[in-house]
Amino acid sequence: MDNRLVDKFGRVHDYLRISVTDRCNLRCVYCMPEEGMEFEPDERIMTFEEIEAVVRVLARRGVRKLRLTGGEPLVRKRLEQLVAILSAIPGIEDIALTTNGIHLAPRAEKLREAGVTRVNISLDSLRADRFALVTRGGDIRKVLAGLEASERVGFDPIKLNVVLMKGINDDEIGDFLRMTMERPLTVRFIEYMPIGHDDDGWRSRYLPLSAVLERCAELGWTAEPTEAVYGNGPSRNYRIAGARGSFGLIHPVSDHFCQTCNRLRLTADGNIKPCLYWTDEFNVRKAIGDDEAIERLFLRALDIKPENHEMAQALAREDQSHTPTTRRMSQI
Ligand code: GTP
Ligand code: 5AD
Ligand code: SF4
Repeated sequence: MDNRLVDKFGRVHDYLRISVTDRCNLRCVYCMPEEGMEFEPDERIMTFEEIEAVVRVLARRGVRKLRLTGGEPLVRKRLEQLVAILSAIPGIEDIALTTNGIHLAPRAEKLREAGVTRVNISLDSLRADRFALVTRGGDIRKVLAGLEASERVGFDPIKLNVVLMKGINDDEIGDFLRMTMERPLTVRFIEYMPIGHDDDGWRSRYLPLSAVLERCAELGWTAEPTEAVYGNGPSRNYRIAGARGSFGLIHPVSDHFCQTCNRLRLTADGNIKPCLYWTDEFNVRKAIGDDEAIERLFLRALDIKPENHEMAQALAREDQSHTPTTRRMSQI
């Protein structure tokens, strides 16, 4: 019998994103306010045993791929131990990490041994001073060391996430594209999303990703769509003729990709989020110890999963009827 997690729009859910902490060692301008945030107290954060219990239930219902995120997942103590626990669960085939890379270099080998297969690293600028500005104090050398360590230990693929911001890093599009000519990486340009904070930044900094293809053409390069990049996410990928790597465009605002959404999310405090951009949540912690109850909660979450988040339309109309999430990205 097919017992996969299918919602009422026929979307099969085989991918779970797990936020292992809401804490972060950076405060990127598009993600956190300058003064930082109040984090959840430790006792509200899911334990490794609770996360394991949830993943065991979901793996029996066809979830095959996990992504560990944060906040910053590497600030969670003993993350390697969690990876080892999860990779031993029957059915789990792929464990990816989305990280800011600051703590990656010294831990890449242990993470690889524990079962992380691939990494996505946030890197919004290749210039030390700008990187420090965007992350409010981050040291780019640590991230670049993390990237090199990732190549050395053989994470594959390795992706860089670049949130495009008008007047901040749009003059670096060419440098990032050049990087894909020389290294077997995927650079993903991400549209700035208005998420979780009343941010003037969004309206003044948002830049549509057509800027990337325009820059590519200006440089005289031909980019062809490619299917060759492994991923479960929303990225549309391209390769420049002759390049070792590739680049991707992620358009959460201008062109949502909800029709093919295969993902569920678990927040660090144990809430199931059927959609990134939706407020309804179901807390799974109270169901731990009763696998059927866990399963029921996920089925309920799937049942109310919206067909699409209508972010762009709602923003255009200034319509708040679809109450966008009040969480910030670091809390999802
Ligand atoms: P892979 O393609 O499997 O490598 O994963 P991914 O691209 O989903 O992972 P990552 O954590 O690197 O996410 C990259 C970006 O995709 C995020 O910054 C978001 O902008 C966007 N994104 C990921 N998932 C969603 C989603 O469910 N909804 C929306 N709107 N954006 C998402
Ligand atoms: N818009 C677009 N991307 C964002 N991220 C965090 N906040 C935003 C936002 N407002 C990105 C980070 C990271 C990924 C998981 O989410 O840069 O690469
Ligand atoms: Fe931290 Fe990622 Fe948010 Fe930057 S975008 S503050 S690295 S959680």
